[in-house]
Amino acid sequence: MKIVVAITGASGAILGVRLLTALNELENVETHLVISDWGKKTIEIETDLALEDVVKKSHYYHDNKNLGASIASGSFKTDCMVIIPCSMKTLSGISHGYSNCLITRAADVILKERRKLIIVPRETPLNTIHLENLLKLSKMGVEIAPFLPAFYNSPKSLDDVLDHFIGRVLDQLGIENKLVKRWGENQNN
Ligand SMILES: Cc1cc2nc3c(=O)[nH]c(=O)nc-3n(C[C@H](O)[C@H](O)[C@H](O)COP(=O)(O)O)c2cc1C
Repeated sequence: MKIVVAITGASGAILGVRLLTALNELENVETHLVISDWGKKTIEIETDLALEDVVKKSHYYHDNKNLGASIASGSFKTDCMVIIPCSMKTLSGISHGYSNCLITRAADVILKERRKLIIVPRETPLNTIHLENLLKLSKMGVEIAPFLPAFYNSPKSLDDVLDHFIGRVLDQLGIENKLVKRWGENQNN
């Protein structure tokens, strides 16, 4: 399975890092990572990791300015793309077909090839422009998966919240995982 993972400059760089970490542990998954300039900045601001630490968790790393990268072409077969976290600017670029960088181009390719695109938008509150962009993409079959904590699994820490969410993203990718504490799987329900 070939998965494109994009980290953009919305708050929540740790979400992208956690997804890459989980995918990196799987044998039959190949990841193609792209990070926007502001994604690099949020990694620096919000995590203790250096860019290289994040890059090391991927199989292939592509420069966001490289519109000649493999993932910029529909002839390069990938299975899906996850933009995690996704800024409102990148969301807007995708919903308007404005492919001025590798992330928006790769997403455009995923859409034209009718492959799976998962967007983890990060902004609050959302204005009408954000909502319209999300709705437009949702109508095209894009999975919109905002980072919202679940409480029914009684999380005890931020780690629990992150694990559960990343597990749910893996669910959307059709990847078996033990990160999700599933409703109905314990004796109380
Ligand atoms: C620390 C930090 C947090 C940010 N958080 C968000 C956010 O949650 N959502 C968002 O849409 N933009 C956020 N921004 C603004 C984006 O980084 C900015 O719009 C940028 O142009 C996005 O570019 P990109 O999509 O190419 O990464 C944040 C910026 C910084 C520095």
